[in-house]
Amino acid sequence: MNTAVKVVPLDHVSSPAVGVIVGALNERVPSTLLSLDHLAHGAITRLVASGDFKGERDDVAVVYPTKGPKRVILVGMGKPEEVTRGAVRRAAAIAARRALGMGAETFAVHVAHEFRAGVQPASLGQVLVEGVGQGAWQFRELRAAEGGRRTLKALDIIATRDDRAEIEKGRRVGSAVAIGQKLARNLQALPGNVCTPSYLAEIARQLGRAYNFKVTVLGRPQLEKQGFGALLAVAQGSAQEPQFITLEHRGAGRSQPVCLIGKGITFDSGGISIKPAQSMEDMKYDMSGAAAVLGTFEVLGQLKPPLNVVGVIPSCENLPSGTAYKPGDIVRSLLGKTIEIVNTDAEGRLILADALAYVQRFKPTCAIDLATLTGAIVIALGNTATGLMGNDDGLLEQVRRAGELASERCWPLPLWDEFRELIKSDVADVKNSGGRAAGSITGAWFLREFVDGFPWAHLDIAGTAYTERDQPHLAKGPTGVGVRLLTEFVLGRATG
Ligand code: BES
Ligand code: MN
Ligand code: ZN
Repeated sequence: MNTAVKVVPLDHVSSPAVGVIVGALNERVPSTLLSLDHLAHGAITRLVASGDFKGERDDVAVVYPTKGPKRVILVGMGKPEEVTRGAVRRAAAIAARRALGMGAETFAVHVAHEFRAGVQPASLGQVLVEGVGQGAWQFRELRAAEGGRRTLKALDIIATRDDRAEIEKGRRVGSAVAIGQKLARNLQALPGNVCTPSYLAEIARQLGRAYNFKVTVLGRPQLEKQGFGALLAVAQGSAQEPQFITLEHRGAGRSQPVCLIGKGITFDSGGISIKPAQSMEDMKYDMSGAAAVLGTFEVLGQLKPPLNVVGVIPSCENLPSGTAYKPGDIVRSLLGKTIEIVNTDAEGRLILADALAYVQRFKPTCAIDLATLTGAIVIALGNTATGLMGNDDGLLEQVRRAGELASERCWPLPLWDEFRELIKSDVADVKNSGGRAAGSITGAWFLREFVDGFPWAHLDIAGTAYTERDQPHLAKGPTGVGVRLLTEFVLGRATG
């Protein structure tokens, strides 16, 4: 999707569709819409008078002027106090979904000045592009018959002379995010037989070539030599070779990096502790943390912020077989701590344990892991918030704030010492499951055992990585969660 900022009156826009985002109208046609209303011979006046379109959140109406844009898609955000970055992003997504549904391949969008509340032009430019990218996303790579279906090719943001420069700054960021989030969602959508650990490694190499990242991939022999015992235990039931992927963005010389770690289980059957068949196909999404890290690296490549960032993706499949690891097994992790396996379905924490031990060598200023780690987080926070835990309150607050800016909300759960009891083992340093009670917290506590000497935050995205429910601004399926949050976090760090 090509994006540009254009200074042109709304009634001169020639796109097949223009989205005009407004707030609560209070039965009046705002002055921004008067010229379009004129071209539509009063259709907007009649629409508003009818009460069919009030400009409330998620309200949509389409008007057909006789000249200028072929279609005007009006989308509401609601009352002034409801108008936020998130509301603009959401409205843009709704408008773009509608436009694409009507076959428009180019689209223009504008937020009426009367309703911008406190949202600054740079933010506006960013979230408009993010929203349109989100709304226009569709996955049809694996359908034979859909070659001719339409895609959104170009987006113009309609600006004025006064705000065009600021909107352009935001457009640049939003465009990078849209590209990164699209990559993340595409990877998530791919099934386990296509998106294997080596597939993820190839994507990382491609990003490396496109943007000049250093990329290293360790396979089974190197992992054995270097002692990645926890990752290898999970991988040993599968014919797919595990891949331990590292990407490095160097934007600030030799300074300490931010480390981003993504769980890359390309399919989680549960292993010998096998999952029920019901919805097991959703476990192709168990690489959503990895997808978020790869998507964020696409953003880093596009924007090249002055900051060092290391991305780490431990990746393998979790399958039952004659060579699979078993409940009762004891394995030695990269850090040296031994782990009693009590449930082979608690595999994410095992591969992350080795990744957390590995990143110590980069002396990170902080590390953030993203993982579809526990079903329990869906019980606690539903599909609304990502679970947030860690060892440093300052970092947790920064991550939470980035999530608010990104509309990828996070909420903390306590990592109190009391919970550590639940993962004590009789035979090893730690066991990999504490059972059902406080499942998300014990999962995070397990990870904490492998964090040595740096601030760390853990994001449990099991409830937010994908949705089973179609929403007006977000198609059901993969969400690409994490890309926006990590972008806000990293850009916040880069500018100090
Ligand atoms: N990948 C799953 C968690 C998950 C569940 C992700 C639902 C997305 C939706 C993870 O590997 C897992 O199986 N966790 C277990 C942990 C338990 C065995 C301690 C769980 O949540 O049941
Ligand atoms: Mn599992
Ligand atoms: Zn899993």
